Amino acid sequence: MSDLDQVTLNAGEKSVVLPVIKPTLGNDCVDISKLTKETGYFTYDSGFTATASCKSAITYIDGDKGVLLYRGYPIEQLSEKSSYVEVVYLLINGERPDAAQLKAFNEELAAEATVDASVNTLIGSFAKDAHPMAILTAAIAQLSGIYHASLDLSDAEQRRKAAVRLIAKVPTLSALIYRHGKGLPANTPDTSLDYVSRFLKQTFESADGQYELNQDVVKALDLLFILHADHEQNASTSTVRMVGSTGANPYASVAAGVTALWGPAHGGANEAVLKMLEEIGSADNVESAVVKAKDKTSGFRLMGFGHRVYKNFDPRAKVIGVMTGKVLEQLGVQDPLLDVAVKLEQAALQDDYFVARKLYPNVDFYSGIIYKALQIPTEMFTVMFALGRTSGWVAHWLEQQVDPEMKIGRPRQVYTGSDVRDYQG
Ligand code: CMC
Repeated sequence: MSDLDQVTLNAGEKSVVLPVIKPTLGNDCVDISKLTKETGYFTYDSGFTATASCKSAITYIDGDKGVLLYRGYPIEQLSEKSSYVEVVYLLINGERPDAAQLKAFNEELAAEATVDASVNTLIGSFAKDAHPMAILTAAIAQLSGIYHASLDLSDAEQRRKAAVRLIAKVPTLSALIYRHGKGLPANTPDTSLDYVSRFLKQTFESADGQYELNQDVVKALDLLFILHADHEQNASTSTVRMVGSTGANPYASVAAGVTALWGPAHGGANEAVLKMLEEIGSADNVESAVVKAKDKTSGFRLMGFGHRVYKNFDPRAKVIGVMTGKVLEQLGVQDPLLDVAVKLEQAALQDDYFVARKLYPNVDFYSGIIYKALQIPTEMFTVMFALGRTSGWVAHWLEQQVDPEMKIGRPRQVYTGSDVRDYQG
């Protein structure tokens, strides 16, 4: 990066000197906030490909080098040495907890895991085959009906508590949504268990409370949650921040984040990957799938491939790629879709189209195969992503609430409609 402290922009007869913001890591940013006032020009950047929407100290991505850091710690190290709950603490507090802080945090999450009985009524009102992301959105929004009245956003402890509540309750909501879809009776979380085990037991226990925890499953899910926990200003986190910027409560903000995550270009890709692999069906059909993905008229893309920021391997995909075979072996699962996925990855990585566009497997490419091996139904995959990402969403919401430069998010537009005209007749 250059060492410029400012850049000058010439706009006809006017010229404006714009300061350059220096981040700890990453590209320098030209601060254009006074551009319009001084020149009358707006800037245009569809999809925010070159625009920083905020300052943040939570997560750093170097897309060219395939680097992902949470609060400075490389994702590879956190995946190997940490746990999801420790990562959550790190994301929302900025530092890793010591043993006593981690224990207290686990206890607080357990104490907050139970949900109001009215949530069961809401979930029960949905059709059994309603998409779980629709129900999750509604159930999180309902939490604002339960807690909003008492929430004072200017009180730091109340904000923290609301954040913890969301992280604690989203697994409970997810388990109840799964059970509703399967026609299983609603149940309560076992608060004697750790975060991930609690979710698994509540999800899968039989009507008479039986479920045998498998530590390989617990570990695999814990790791997936770590990998999904945060990813700086992605579409859903930016949505949470946009809604949060209006002063809306954190439950409403996170509910909006869930809807943004649902789309197949974002978190919905994990569900789309599995459907795509099933459609491809066998390794013999991989070549024709690659041909179709390159054909712009086909409307088909390789799901789980490509990323706005990573123009090199997604480091999360590297970790998941290694763990997929291991988890399937540990669980004694033989899934022919894994062969299809491996062949598809190899074919795409050797194809000029994908090489030239720097399209690599992303976090969603293999995660679905693991979720499937863990007996999680395809339509619940994006809920699993939401479950892990809730920690990132609330970390960003908390950070935003104390950002002295925070303003309501209100982009401008390039108007392309009709010029002014008179109403005739
Ligand atoms: N298959 C085929 N072609 C692709 C793909 C793909 N998966 N992704 C991008 N391209 C092509 C695209 O057609 C374009 O080609 P050209 O330059 O000839 O017009 C070029 O690559 C650049 O694509 P783009 O759409 O301009 O890139 P983007 O940064 O706007 O989109 C993306 C990023 C992730 C939405 C896109 O790569 C995609 O649709 N991937 C499939 C969906 C997916 O896996 N999403 C999960 C993302 S990671 C997890 C998450 O964020 O939730």
